Amino acid sequence: MTRTRTILGLVAALTTTLSLPALADNPAVNARQAQFTLYSFNVGVLAQMAQGQMDYDAEMAQAAADNLYHLTRHDQSRLWPEGTDNESIAGTRALPAIWDDLEGFAGRYSALQDAAAAMQEAAGTDLASLQGALGGLGGTCQACHQEFRGPAE
Ligand code: HEC
Repeated sequence: MTRTRTILGLVAALTTTLSLPALADNPAVNARQAQFTLYSFNVGVLAQMAQGQMDYDAEMAQAAADNLYHLTRHDQSRLWPEGTDNESIAGTRALPAIWDDLEGFAGRYSALQDAAAAMQEAAGTDLASLQGALGGLGGTCQACHQEFRGPAE
């Protein structure tokens, strides 16, 4: 019994020192991933209209762009706690580079906010305006993913 407990204690100590990636059920990680899912949900409808897979509907386009605008105004300060990169925990694609270059990351985020504002101006006007704003918006998603998002697990 004592022996078992000693062994278990040793295993626990080893696991801690080796800092093996643990399965994450981290509320901040869940929240930021949910936020990105909502971005996609709204950008998706705009992209489908832009590509002619769905008829242009000014009201629906405006609603999606409004949603995206407001979603990108969600305060980010609690969504990216240190120690939630993909080398520290499982279940995330956030690269350590985010915390090495917080300013660069914030810059990418503010580019997204600007592009979401431009889309909000354009989406309900007409299809050509929506199409004109989509490239810039998609570019901000892609640029940040390239630099700060790791491969899917
Ligand atoms: C400032 C950087 C940044 C911008 C801008 C950005 N993303 Fe991401 N995105 C990330 C990071 C980092 C992750 C990984 C988050 C994690 O797994 O913890 C991610 C994850 C995602 C995911 C996966 C969510 C999940 O369930 O795991 C989707 C979908 C996504 N982004 C879509 C978008 C779309 C669409 C846009 C543009 C409208 C966008 N992102 C803009 C950094 C960004």
